[in-house]
Formats: sequence, C-alpha cells, structure tokens
Amino acid sequence: MTTDVVEILKEPRMIKICAPMVRYSKLQFRTLVRRYGCDICFTPMILANSFVQSPKARHNEFTTHKEDQPLIVQFAAKTVNDFVDASEMVAPYCNGVDLNCGCPQRWAIQDGYGAGLLKKPELVKDLIYQVRNRVSRPFTVSAKIRLLKDIRQTIELCQTLEKAGASFLTIHARTPEMRNEPIDLESLKLLRDRLQLPLVANGDAKSLESAQSLFTESRCEAVMSARGILTNPALFSGHSTTPLTCVQDWLDISSTIPAEFQCFHHHLVFMLEKILPKKDRVLFNSLQDKSSVLNFLENYYNIKPNVSNAIELTKCNFNTSHVRCKKKYNNCWEDDSSTDFLRSMFNANS
Ligand SMILES: Cc1cc2nc3c(=O)[nH]c(=O)nc-3n(C[C@H](O)[C@H](O)[C@H](O)COP(=O)(O)O)c2cc1C
Repeated sequence: MTTDVVEILKEPRMIKICAPMVRYSKLQFRTLVRRYGCDICFTPMILANSFVQSPKARHNEFTTHKEDQPLIVQFAAKTVNDFVDASEMVAPYCNGVDLNCGCPQRWAIQDGYGAGLLKKPELVKDLIYQVRNRVSRPFTVSAKIRLLKDIRQTIELCQTLEKAGASFLTIHARTPEMRNEPIDLESLKLLRDRLQLPLVANGDAKSLESAQSLFTESRCEAVMSARGILTNPALFSGHSTTPLTCVQDWLDISSTIPAEFQCFHHHLVFMLEKILPKKDRVLFNSLQDKSSVLNFLENYYNIKPNVSNAIELTKCNFNTSHVRCKKKYNNCWEDDSSTDFLRSMFNANS
C-alpha cells in the first residue's frame, strides 16, 4: 500500500482519526465514519501473539476492503518476535501498525501489555525499532500511549521512541490511573514542544468544535476520537448529534458487510443515545434480534436497509513463512473466558 500516513499528518489542517476500539472500530464502522470526514482509522486492538499463531484469530480479528484505507492496525504485544511477525503479516493489507501502550486494565498491566509497557521504555524502543527495520516506508510504525505521572519520564519515553524510528505517536492525555477527569492539556503541549514527530491528540473530542479546540490548543497534527465518534459517527463532519442519514448508512453498510447482531445493535444503541427519547430508548436497547431492530427503525423513522451490491472483502493471504517462533497455539481466542476478558476490557472509562 502506497498511502503515506506521515504525509497526511503533515497536511496543514486538522487530521481526523477514529480511535482503536475493542469490539467497535471494525470494518463496518470504519466504512461508516470514512463517509463522514474521518481521515484515518485504527482497528481494534488485536493480540499480536494470537494473530501470528492462529488462522482463526486472523480471520476473526481482521477484515478489510480496498476502500478501507488509510488503515492502522493496532496490536497488543510484549515481545519483538510477536510484534515484528504480526506486522509483517498484516503489512500488505494496511498502512501501518500501532503498539498499544495505553490499555489501563489490570490484566493488561499484569501481563505486561498496554499501559504496562509505559514502565519499560527499552522494550518499547526495541519493539518499534525492530518493526521499523523490517517493514519499509511509507508503512508506519507508531505507538498509542497514556501519560506517565512524571511528565519528564513521558517526554523521555517519547524522545526514545522518536529516535527508534516511530512514525508518529498518539497521546491519550491521561495517566493510566485517571478515569473521567479532564485531560491534561498542559502535558500535551509540553510534549508537542519537545518532539519533532507528528502527534495525535486524544481525549474528550466529542464534537467537531471540541476536536478543533484540542487541535488548536495542543498544536498536535491530528485529533483522535473514541467515545464521541461512537455516539455520533458523523462528528467529524460537523453534526452535533447522529443524523438519520448516518443511521441509514449504518443499516446499508451492515447489510452489505454482515455484522454480528450484538455489534450491529450496540452501534445503533450508541448512535441513538442522544436522539431517542428515554422511554423509546429503553425499548430499543432491549431488542434481541435483527428483525425487531429493523421493524423498530422502520416504524419510528421510516428507514430500512437499502440492499446494494456486495462490497468485496480483500482476500488476505497472510504470509506465515517468516514466523520464527512456532509456539504451540494456546487457544486463547477460542476460550470464552479470555474473549470475555478482552471484550469487557475497555467497557468502563478507558
Ligand atoms: C469501547 C472502547 C474501546 C476501546 N478500545 C481501545 C483499543 O482497542 N485500543 C486502544 O488503544 N484504546 C482503546 N480505547 C481507548 C480509546 O481509544 C481512547 O484512547 C479513549 O477512549 C479516550 O478517548 P475519547 O475521550 O475520545 O473516548 C477504547 C475506548 C473505548 C470507549
């Protein structure tokens, strides 16, 4: 893929990014937000180890089509082999890979993933450096971090990653301990002053106006939204709440690229949160199957899916020949408890 995400980030305008979201920033949702002004999308976090070892994990966790770019695939990794192998395998089908250094969940930190990596700058440096050396530009290698309590340590970490060859960094301007407190804009500004590489500002961009003020005040190159864009996928095109055209688009997209019922319904629950009156919302949120959801939307808004030509998914032939460490696959993705674990991971205040 030839699109250069770094070049996009250098454009003198606010670059708008859809955040990695476990369960939610999947192909169908990415297709939707790209119709509403989103410049770059991230996949949900994927465990690099499972991706490398299991064809089933690859199939379940990664789908794309030719319009689905620029696309950054986010991995949770803690060994160079896993991150490099996963990156090489997915490289033909995306524009860059990102290392999750921000997941604040206890399991992730205990297992040395996510925010657990913030305390291991040498390891993170190595992960970034090795991928940079193995996959050539314009493919990007980046990291998404949270702040450390000590801003000097955060600056040092980012400078180390810059030297290791990171293409850009995303800063969720909270520490792993922070939940719903306002973001730390001052730290973001300090980081911008001390680094040369492009920075993506993340945290509380819930409308185009708040994204724009984060962009202006932080002087970062781009703004990433998670909860805001989930509630209103048309956020970056200036709509203050989800327009009905966007709900219509979601119905059309998810009938063309079928989504599991839960995913299909959850997205609608988020999208309608601000536009359905409470009593109708309670009913809508309790619906249990696709036909009742479609009936509700037809009766309430007079919309129903337009069946259009199928969107052809990219056939991904992942090259596994370079996978050096053929560990026994531990069935992690087939084990319900670990899947639930991952699913619940970002549910609260991530
Ligand atoms: C449902 C959900 C899933 C998330 N999944 C991920 C993920 O897979 N990787 C990641 O780096 N951050 C993840 N996050 C964190 C967001 O990317 C983002 O950093 C955080 O929500 C702050 O941005 P916001 O204020 O725009 O929501 C998730 C957040 C939510 C709400």
